Amino acid sequence: MMSRHLLVAMLGLGMVLVSGIVRAQSHDASVANHQLHYYDIEDFGMEAGAATCADHIAPILQRSCQQCHRPGGGGPMVLMSCDQVRPWAPVIMYRTAVRDRMGAMPPWFVEKDIGINGFKNDYSLSDVELALIQDWVNNGAPRGNPDNEPPALVFSGSNGWTLGEPDLILRSRDVTRPAIGPDWWGDIGLASTGLTEDRYIFHHMTYRSGVLNEEGAGISGDITSWPIHEVGRNADTFPEKAGQLLPANSALHLYAAHLHSNGRDTTGHLEFGISFFPVGYAPEYSRRGPRTGNGVDIDILPNRANQEVHNYVVLQEHTKIIAFESHLHAPGARMRLEAIWGHNQFTLNCVGYDHNWVKQYIYEDDKAPLLPKGTILHTIGFLDATAANPNLADGRNWAGGGRSVSNMFIDLGYSVSLTEEQFQAEMAIRRANMKDRNEYDIGCPLCWAPEPVEPGIAGSD
Ligand code: HEC
Repeated sequence: MMSRHLLVAMLGLGMVLVSGIVRAQSHDASVANHQLHYYDIEDFGMEAGAATCADHIAPILQRSCQQCHRPGGGGPMVLMSCDQVRPWAPVIMYRTAVRDRMGAMPPWFVEKDIGINGFKNDYSLSDVELALIQDWVNNGAPRGNPDNEPPALVFSGSNGWTLGEPDLILRSRDVTRPAIGPDWWGDIGLASTGLTEDRYIFHHMTYRSGVLNEEGAGISGDITSWPIHEVGRNADTFPEKAGQLLPANSALHLYAAHLHSNGRDTTGHLEFGISFFPVGYAPEYSRRGPRTGNGVDIDILPNRANQEVHNYVVLQEHTKIIAFESHLHAPGARMRLEAIWGHNQFTLNCVGYDHNWVKQYIYEDDKAPLLPKGTILHTIGFLDATAANPNLADGRNWAGGGRSVSNMFIDLGYSVSLTEEQFQAEMAIRRANMKDRNEYDIGCPLCWAPEPVEPGIAGSD
């Protein structure tokens, strides 16, 4: 399915040239041809028919499902006890085997067989967990010995914050949409922070912020854009070295909301939970917004699967990629992020896409790509505009780029710029954690390159 081919040639003077390509082969991303991931439990050293709910399935549900599939949670059914789970066994086997494609459960779409492995809050299932679910279901979904079931998890409230109780909660005004009505895009006003001092933010979600103007009726000065929040999206977390500033006397401006009538008169509001870094914290790195993509010039043909859109960006500064967030619209099926450096071309990650679940993937600190300036980032979007794509209302028309009902193709993730010193320091940490020179870090093409030495420094010659 995939070719992984790496050639490492040692040249004189201790210089290492890494040449080759690590990338997925041309890929059938059409929804109709999504492959299920089925495994044989015997390949994992277990006897067929040995998996039970109490021993093997309950722990998986606790880690990866119950945050949504619990009373009052976001999931449509409760998967708290083995009795509740059993009727769902066959459909659980199917949805989990979809693994990284549209419709997968849990909703997490990173392909595991290529690219960087190591994301924060990753609740996806491993190969052996899929094998256990499949063995359990194929054997009639046996309960096992109830004494072996792990104690039930206790959840606080039905609408708790996934990352713990925030330091500050901001609320928008109420907005009402009629049962039936056209889609509405617009400004739902300000939510003022009431902050009396500048604070750096650790995590939250929102639109944009700025200091309140004199009348308190708008924001002015340096306007900060915040990550867009969408259906099924997880929370934003800003790393320790790159917090985002929310100044004193500022407000969030909720200037672009898309509201869709849902068949019932509905009144709703937004809440923003914000956690702060301690007072006095200052970020080391400057944060940059989305890097690649094209929201405008998109040309999606009707009724066609496997359409590709490409985008190239040359990094002007040394860059650490903090998060990857594929953003396509309804026809979206998959996205690939590649780094091209010198004559090397690396697949950093491939992720499936489901427009019901717009996911942000935040790299583990020691896995985040560290790319030298001059690297070309190449993003490829795969789209399916056929009737096989259940997210698409009607694929019979050509569609261009634009708002929710049209298309987009952007990596909404974010990165930080590094100075030469910071870049070298980050690579030194990475190198120290590598066992030897045979270990290769896909996201760090210069990790094993000789450190530059400034002329005239003792010992440099
Ligand atoms: C982040 C929240 C979330 C997590 C985590 C999650 N689910 Fe779901 N699940 C949902 C929602 C919402 C739906 C309905 C919408 C959809 O299908 O995308 C759903 C749908 C399903 C369905 C289809 C139900 C039907 O009516 O056909 C199954 C089966 C399922 N989930 C199983 C699981 C299992 C098993 C896990 C863990 C391995 C899991 N889910 C993790 C939120 C979640």
